[in-house]
Amino acid sequence: MTDAPLLKANDVSKFYGNRIGCRNVSFELWPGEVLAIVGESGSGKTTLLNCISTRLMPTTGSVEYHMRDGAYRDLYRMSEAERRFLMRTDWGFVHQNPADGLRMMVSAGANVGERLMAIGDRHYGNIRSTAVDWLQRVEIDAGRIDDQPRAFSGGMRQRLQIARNLVTGPRLVFMDEPTGGLDVSVQARLLDLVRGLVNDLGLAAIIVTHDLAVARLLSHRIMVMKDGHVIEHGLTNRVLDDPREPYTQLLVSSILQV
Ligand SMILES: Nc1ncnc2c1ncn2[C@@H]1O[C@H](COP(=O)(O)OP(=O)(O)OP(=O)(O)O)[C@@H](O)[C@H]1O
Ligand SMILES: [Mg+2]
Repeated sequence: MTDAPLLKANDVSKFYGNRIGCRNVSFELWPGEVLAIVGESGSGKTTLLNCISTRLMPTTGSVEYHMRDGAYRDLYRMSEAERRFLMRTDWGFVHQNPADGLRMMVSAGANVGERLMAIGDRHYGNIRSTAVDWLQRVEIDAGRIDDQPRAFSGGMRQRLQIARNLVTGPRLVFMDEPTGGLDVSVQARLLDLVRGLVNDLGLAAIIVTHDLAVARLLSHRIMVMKDGHVIEHGLTNRVLDDPREPYTQLLVSSILQV
């Protein structure tokens, strides 16, 4: 842990033609901190996450990232190769749909091992034993290592996607609705697992969710978005227990009525 932000987003805006994706978003993320981005459908959560993670180039704004060597770099001024390297090593990205984050036609072991090979590990025995270790950490039976993810349940696929992302020891993980397509009981188990891993590994994370219960369980801070703007930002308990903005009050109360 250092006493410097891991990431600083400055006035990030993304327009799709003249439609606002997100507008003038600034925040800092600290090492080991979990930030939830919440808001109704179409409020700009995915757009913002994709801009921060450089999957999408913003129209304006900058994001400074604290590299392992201690220097801050503007993510949008890096070369494509440098960004790819960050994505493969220092970052993870957990997609809502596991098929977007996994290779469905190669084995579970290879899905995990591939990320290790990408950072230069060439020792088959090491790769396999690390893959076994990670399958177990995400509660997948080691006997399934040679099975393809298409033979897995939705919850297992999502846990495999998490293992694939965490095996390289990233410092920052992006998640877009990680429990979105799952049954409620499967969701609960996955959330428990994510919470445990994030705590154990001291990961920083930015999690997009429209589910305030997910934000409550996982995050330290919450940003509430509406029409592309961040309308409220604060510590999770403060925002959920004492929302200041009428829109946040509405979001919170509509959850409580369920
Ligand atoms: N590729 C695109 N082209 C044009 N407009 C887009 C595109 N992607 C998103 N938008 C628009 O940008 C706005 C924000 O969309 P975004 O997908 O970021 O919202 P979201 O909060 O992630 O919604 P959801 O909860 O439904 O996933 C919406 O008005 C959407 O229609
Ligand atoms: Mg979205």
